[in-house]
Amino acid sequence: MATLAINGGTPVRSAPYPSWPETDDDGYVAAVEAVVRSGQWGGFPEPGVHAAGFESAFAAYQGGAHGVLMVNGTITMEVACKALDIGWGDEVIVPALTFAATAYAPMAAGALPVFVDITPDTWTIDPELAEAAITERTRAIMPVHLGHHMADMDRIMDLARRHGLAVIEDCAHAHGQRWRDQGAGCIGDFGSFSHQSSKILTSGEGGSLLTNDDRLAQRAHSIVDCGRAKDPDEKDYTFGANYRLSELNAALLEVAMERFPAQQEARATAGKRFEELVADIPGITVMPADDRITRWSFYNYLLKMDPDAFAGRPNEVVCAAMEAEGIEAEVQYPPMNHYELFQPSLSRLPVAVEYADRLDPTRMSFPVAEAAGLRESIYFMETTFRDGEQGVQDAADALAKIQANAQELPES
Ligand SMILES: Cc1ncc(COP(=O)(O)O)c(C=O)c1O
Repeated sequence: MATLAINGGTPVRSAPYPSWPETDDDGYVAAVEAVVRSGQWGGFPEPGVHAAGFESAFAAYQGGAHGVLMVNGTITMEVACKALDIGWGDEVIVPALTFAATAYAPMAAGALPVFVDITPDTWTIDPELAEAAITERTRAIMPVHLGHHMADMDRIMDLARRHGLAVIEDCAHAHGQRWRDQGAGCIGDFGSFSHQSSKILTSGEGGSLLTNDDRLAQRAHSIVDCGRAKDPDEKDYTFGANYRLSELNAALLEVAMERFPAQQEARATAGKRFEELVADIPGITVMPADDRITRWSFYNYLLKMDPDAFAGRPNEVVCAAMEAEGIEAEVQYPPMNHYELFQPSLSRLPVAVEYADRLDPTRMSFPVAEAAGLRESIYFMETTFRDGEQGVQDAADALAKIQANAQELPES
C-alpha cells in the first residue's frame, strides 16, 4: 500500500492553512466601503489620500524618506531604471536566480540585463561575480533579497560606490527585513516592493518604490503620473505613463500596514521553529539568515535539498509530493538562462548585435543558480508560517515522510 499521498496514501495535513489574503477581517471591508462612498476611487490626483497615507507609513516602517505607490512590483523596477536615466545601450547586473520581473524591468527601459551567478549559502547575487561583470556600459546592480535571505548589502554598496553604479534592490520578498538596522529597500538608490496577492503586505495588486533621495522620489512620482510635473516650479515634466494605483487598493494597504508588524513577528518565530524541526532530516540543508539581518522577515522560506537523499529525484518531484501531503511548497524560479523568453527580445536590442555572445543562453553558465533552480530549491510558502506550531510541524513531518519513503516518489 502507498505511504506517500502523491500515490494515494493519507496526507500529513488535510485541513487547509489559513487563507491569504485574510478574508475574515472587517477592517479591510470597512476601508474599502469608505473609499466607495467617498467617490474618490482612482489614483488621480497622484498621490491620492490613501496612497499618500500608505506611502508615508510604509516608508517610515522600513526607514526610508519617501514611498511611491504604483500598480505592481514589476513596473516599480522599470520606473526606478527610468528615474535613474538608465536606457538604451546601458547594462544592468541581475542575479541568475530570480523572478522574470527583475530582468524584464531594465529591458523595458531599453537596457540590457547581464546575469551573474548567486552564492551557494544564500542564493543571492554573488558580489565578486557582479564586480567581474562590470563594463563601461554598466549603470546599475539589482540585488534580489530572495526568500528569507538578503543579498550582501555591505559588499554590493561598496562595489557600487567604487564603480559609480546605482543600486535598485528587488525587495518583493523582503517587506520588513533590516540589514544592520537599515531597512531593505532603503540601502541602495531605490527599493522595489510588490503588493501582489501572495505577498506579505498586499492589496491584491500594487507595488512601492522607496528612496531616500528627494529628486529620485519626485521623478518616480512624475513617471507614474503620466509624466506630470511634481516640482514646485513645474519644470520637471518627465516621459511617463499612467501607473497609478487605485485608492481602493491603497486603502487596503493602509489596513495591511497596521496588521503587518505583529504578523511579521509571528512568522519569524514560526520560521525559527521550522529550522529546528527540519535540521536533522537527511539531505536537507538549512541555510541560516545572515547575522547582519537585524529584523528578520520573509515571504518564502528556502531549504536546500540533496536529490541523492531523495532517491535521485529533483526538487520539482519533492514539491509535488509536498503539495499532495497538504503543504504549499514550490520550486519557483528556473535559472535565468533557462528562460528562453528573454532571448527574442534581447536579440532585438541594438547592443545585441555587438555583444551577442553575452545574450546567448547556451553560452551562459550559472552552476549555483542551475543547481538551485533545477534540483535543490524548495520554497515554503507564506501560509506554512501562519498556523503557529502546528503549521510548521506539519510541513516538517511531510518533508521527513517524503524523504523516508523517497523510493516511492515518481521519477518526474
Ligand atoms: C523577486 C520578485 N521580483 C518582482 C516581482 C514582481 O512583483 P509583481 O507581481 O507585483 O509585479 C515578484 C513577484 O512575484 C518577485 O517574486
